[in-house]
Amino acid sequence: MIPRNLVECVLISHSAFEEAGRRAEQKIDYVKYGGREPACLALIGESRTGKSRCIEGILRRHPVQRTQEGILSPVLAITVPSKPTVKSLAENFLRKLRVTDWEKGTEPQKTARLIKLLEQCGVVTLILDEFHHFYDKTSNKVQHHVADWLKNIVSEGHVALVASGLQSLQSVIDQNEQLAGRFGAPVVMPRFFWSNEEQQAEWLGILAGFDDVLREHFDFPSLCSEEMGFRFYCATGGLIGYLTNTLRQIVWNAIDDDRAKIRLQDFDRAYKQAIWVMDRRSASKGEVTPFDERWNANPNEAAIGAATTVGCHVGEVREKSFGSKAPTTAAQVFSK
Ligand SMILES: Nc1ncnc2c1ncn2[C@@H]1O[C@H](COP(=O)(O)OP(=O)(O)O)[C@@H](O)[C@H]1O
Ligand SMILES: [Mg+2]
Repeated sequence: MIPRNLVECVLISHSAFEEAGRRAEQKIDYVKYGGREPACLALIGESRTGKSRCIEGILRRHPVQRTQEGILSPVLAITVPSKPTVKSLAENFLRKLRVTDWEKGTEPQKTARLIKLLEQCGVVTLILDEFHHFYDKTSNKVQHHVADWLKNIVSEGHVALVASGLQSLQSVIDQNEQLAGRFGAPVVMPRFFWSNEEQQAEWLGILAGFDDVLREHFDFPSLCSEEMGFRFYCATGGLIGYLTNTLRQIVWNAIDDDRAKIRLQDFDRAYKQAIWVMDRRSASKGEVTPFDERWNANPNEAAIGAATTVGCHVGEVREKSFGSKAPTTAAQVFSK
């Protein structure tokens, strides 16, 4: 039987993914072997570029262990809630350390308890996903009080810190002098750009990785040919998360139809179900999807330009119309 989670079982080690893992491991190792200097890493990228998947990888390499004395949890990861407070973060960490009465005590008591437990449970690294929530977009303000608290936890607990999130997390770090001094250059999780030769090759490599696994079960046009690569690029804007959404739907449809053959029209149907409307590219406007036979699959400026806005919110679309002049690095995307 073909598993419904076939697509999730695929993990592609593209270069940014590898770099993120490697840089995180350096920090973890450093603290593990007694390093006392601050060791902080920022992992920055748009939504659906694979940041959380990287974190999953780190956690998998450093699993929680149960011992007679209690649990050992070398890496502790939480997702920062929107509008974080000291209380909510402390409680989240305590819960992750399996503390049952995590609600008990005042804020300073919870903090003291957390610092003690970090040592007891052998925590060497804290990971905070959605770190940009420290920055309040509506008021343009950083939650300085919470950021200061975190900085103290990192110092007193002698742990490394991995902060992952959208570009605005940079404001949180930049505006806190003491935090800023602890971070080196961030790792940027990119969306891939067709106009950049290296990124195009990497995009086709990612498709080849999925092709290999899916081909064990299905017959379909090669995903990593230049034509299909371009169709997928324009459909997903070079975002790995949109690619996996589409592939997942393709697999589900084929399983339900009990069909081993997947044709272009099946890609079209799955894409419309998975992201076409969600991304406000409505077929009702008379547009055809990149998987439609009538679509021009020869690389052209208009299609490449439109792809750079896939996955952006309306406000961002204005900022991110690059036309065919794609940035060469993802960092340039953010500086636009
Ligand atoms: N390197 C990868 N290999 C395979 N699938 C990936 C990879 N990176 C991300 N994905 C998939 O893409 C989707 C979005 O990734 P996610 O980590 O949630 O993005 P982000 O946290 O940046 O929004 C998920 O379904 C994830 O499994
Ligand atoms: Mg995420």
